[in-house]
Amino acid sequence: MVVAIDGPAGAGKSTVARALAERLGFTYLDTGAMYRAVALLATEGASPAEAAGELDIALGDRVLLGERDVTAAIRSPAISEAASRVSTDPEVREALVRKQRALLEAGDWVAEGRDIGTVVCPDAEVKVFLTASPETRARRRADELGTDLASVMADMELRDLRDSQRFHAPLIAAPDAVPVDSTALDLDGVLEQIELLVVEAREVLR
Ligand code: DC
Repeated sequence: MVVAIDGPAGAGKSTVARALAERLGFTYLDTGAMYRAVALLATEGASPAEAAGELDIALGDRVLLGERDVTAAIRSPAISEAASRVSTDPEVREALVRKQRALLEAGDWVAEGRDIGTVVCPDAEVKVFLTASPETRARRRADELGTDLASVMADMELRDLRDSQRFHAPLIAAPDAVPVDSTALDLDGVLEQIELLVVEAREVLR
């Protein structure tokens, strides 16, 4: 089974997807980390398309590029910005989507990103579009990064705009995705809603 969790930055996707995977005993796939890894290699001079095609990445508690631990490096504001840029490149998207589909083919997954329910896995048994108010999303990111709210708001607006207006696989909810708004919910509240959807999907599969 695939649980697809899409939505904008700061909606809580990573926290929710990781916790949900743990509760369900599914494997967590952070597709944003793949775009971030390509962005890191691009800032070091690699061609983004080639870096994506040859990406040797291991995703888990630590993110490894070959032997190199890039867990912290891919979370910097500069790489967030660079990732938003490389993710507009259709060749990068094609290469990473191919890798993501190959992973999701077998087993049980909670996959998180922007295009999981629309492009990567349109047949996902559960699709969630996780959102929160812009203020909430910016506050969460600012807390996470230890930076000031105003600059996070400005960066986030720009990234949201680019992610939702790009030509290839823009950030939109799949028509059959269930919208979940995390503004007024804590982690358990969000997990409960999604777990209900998983229970329903299992009923359908039986
Ligand atoms: O989820 P994140 O912040 O780690 O994502 C980093 C960037 O990668 C973000 O600008 C959107 C892009 N991305 C994407 O285009 N498609 C995905 N499936 C995941 C991330």
